[in-house]
Amino acid sequence: MKRVLTGIQPSGVLHIGNYFGAIRSTVRLQEECDDAVVFIADLHSLTVQPKADELRARVRGVAVDFLACGLDPEKVIFFRQSDVSVVCELMWILNCFTGVGFLERAHSYKDKIAKGFSPNNGLFSYPVLMAADILLYHADLVPVGKDQKQHLEMTRDIAIRFNQQYGDILTIPEPYISGDVAVVPGTDGQKMSKSYNNTIEIFGEPKAVKKKIMAIQTDSKGLEEPKDPDTCTIFALYKLFATPDQQAEMAARYRAGNYGYGHAKLALLDAYMDYFAPMRKRREELLADPGYVDSVLKHGAERASELAHATMDEVRKAVGLR
Ligand code: ADP
Ligand code: TRP
Repeated sequence: MKRVLTGIQPSGVLHIGNYFGAIRSTVRLQEECDDAVVFIADLHSLTVQPKADELRARVRGVAVDFLACGLDPEKVIFFRQSDVSVVCELMWILNCFTGVGFLERAHSYKDKIAKGFSPNNGLFSYPVLMAADILLYHADLVPVGKDQKQHLEMTRDIAIRFNQQYGDILTIPEPYISGDVAVVPGTDGQKMSKSYNNTIEIFGEPKAVKKKIMAIQTDSKGLEEPKDPDTCTIFALYKLFATPDQQAEMAARYRAGNYGYGHAKLALLDAYMDYFAPMRKRREELLADPGYVDSVLKHGAERASELAHATMDEVRKAVGLR
């Protein structure tokens, strides 16, 4: 049985780009794989030194939102990374097998340097902590978007080097390819991202969401003119929520004319509301029951700890710490 593992950065309020680009496929892992491990990577967040209360709140927010989006803690081992702190011990051991030059070649590190960041050692060794996350739980498969591909290759290199010296102790992970939508556009037509102020939140206040949807940028074609659905941001977003029949119907209306962008925006708002309604309801229930969320994370940490301690026993023996 193959184990699939992924980590989620608790980086802020989630938007529909996050949902269709990452959350949905993470939730689907529980159907596609019998053995899935998902954690909230709060240790990784420390590289940017967030305020303590903010970090705690974001971790909780992500836990609630993923559970609301359907993550089932009975099917998936779901926990907070820092609750299994031996990951830091494994990271130290792996650090000793990782060249400085090798880390200097990481794209994410080079990008930050190019943007003028003065890096701390946490940012520099971020890929080693990620390797420890993956190797501690003997993950066979790791879903990787473009931005994380190199990190997985680095994990493989580190594990191979370790195993060459000590025998086949660590599992060499492979990328897991999931069929996700490419890039979700934001209200201005470029990639939806919290850094561009063009997001539509998954769980935003309905009034605020309506305002954002009504403000989606379009060309200036008049009501009666025929329109091209394939170049329109409203239609691109509508497609995420609608059935193929509904998509064909809206496309035909665009092409026929006498269908304004205002109409399309209202149809998008309805489709968005219908799609997320059950998740919003679940989220309200979770927010009303903080004890339940605590118990989910605690139970997840206990299951993850068992796996982690078994690996650490072997690793410590191998390197001479026991
Ligand atoms: P942001 O760009 O808002 O800062 P993050 O970088 O925190 O988002 O992304 C978290 C996850 O959501 C990543 O897996 C990323 O690939 C996915 N994601 C973010 N924005 C989009 C988007 N517009 N389309 C598809 N996936 C996205
Ligand atoms: N670095 C990942 C990100 O930014 C989060 C992460 C941390 C992760 N550890 C991981 C992902 C292990 C996969 C496996 O999204």
